[in-house]
Amino acid sequence: MILIDGAGLAEDILQEIRQEVDLMVSNGKKRPHLAAVLIGDNPASLSYVTNKVKSCETAGFKSTLIKRDGNFSENELAQLIEELNNDSEIDGYIVQLPLPRHIDADKILLLIDPKKDVDGFHPLNFGRMAQGLPAFLPATPSGILQMLERYKIETDGKHCVVIGRSNIVGNPMSILMARKGYPGNCTVTIVHSRTHNIDEIVRQADIVIAAIGIPKFVTSEMVKDGAVVIDVGINRIADTSTKSGFRLVGDVDFENVAPKCSFITPVPKGVGPMTVCALMINTLKASKSEIY
Ligand code: GUN
Repeated sequence: MILIDGAGLAEDILQEIRQEVDLMVSNGKKRPHLAAVLIGDNPASLSYVTNKVKSCETAGFKSTLIKRDGNFSENELAQLIEELNNDSEIDGYIVQLPLPRHIDADKILLLIDPKKDVDGFHPLNFGRMAQGLPAFLPATPSGILQMLERYKIETDGKHCVVIGRSNIVGNPMSILMARKGYPGNCTVTIVHSRTHNIDEIVRQADIVIAAIGIPKFVTSEMVKDGAVVIDVGINRIADTSTKSGFRLVGDVDFENVAPKCSFITPVPKGVGPMTVCALMINTLKASKSEIY
């Protein structure tokens, strides 16, 4: 069993980006600049955004964190987005999800200039991704592709089962794994909360990508010997023995599943750091106008 070191890999890639940025700056180019919008006080969102800002520092980017309280209105957010779209100093930005319930996230995502949509959530980027055209790829699926590539994991002709159908992970992941090329060329099955025989289907998978948001959902009985298991889950469960009162567990019962796998990602230090890294890659691409 090989443990995929997402944290170490992300660090290596961030250093590669830093070298490129230092060279760009020494050649008189502008430092890439990412802005992050955080509305409300969801602790998990705050922790994700803080990580993104920290990674900007490591990558040599400028970053701006725009925090507004939970009463910030949809109209005010729309106005802020227009300002970010028109601000030539900012290469790319993200609006951290979930948004408070009084804000329609789909409406907001449509307002983001696709050229600055480094999360790849705008329907134009999603559609271009689905058609195999140059696009900003959503960060988590893109980070997973990087992992598969750097660990030289075979995907050609493999059966990939994606658990979960969210627009952020499951849905785009399934499209990317089926795309022509490497990593890709998989036969893909998506299973979700309404699937009747999830266990039986997951047992057939060469590659399992778990993104369902249920702690330890994938058990050892569901995984075939030699499978590659990618755990996207970041679930907070109560733990009185820790300072914070919680600990993070994935969607996979790691302890029992790991011995059966050829490759597996841990939680934390697996997919999470790669997601942030993929966002940095997109921001660098935005600053170089590589996609549009
Ligand atoms: N919420 C959970 N994952 C993400 C992500 O990748 N980007 C944003 N903006 N919000 C998220």
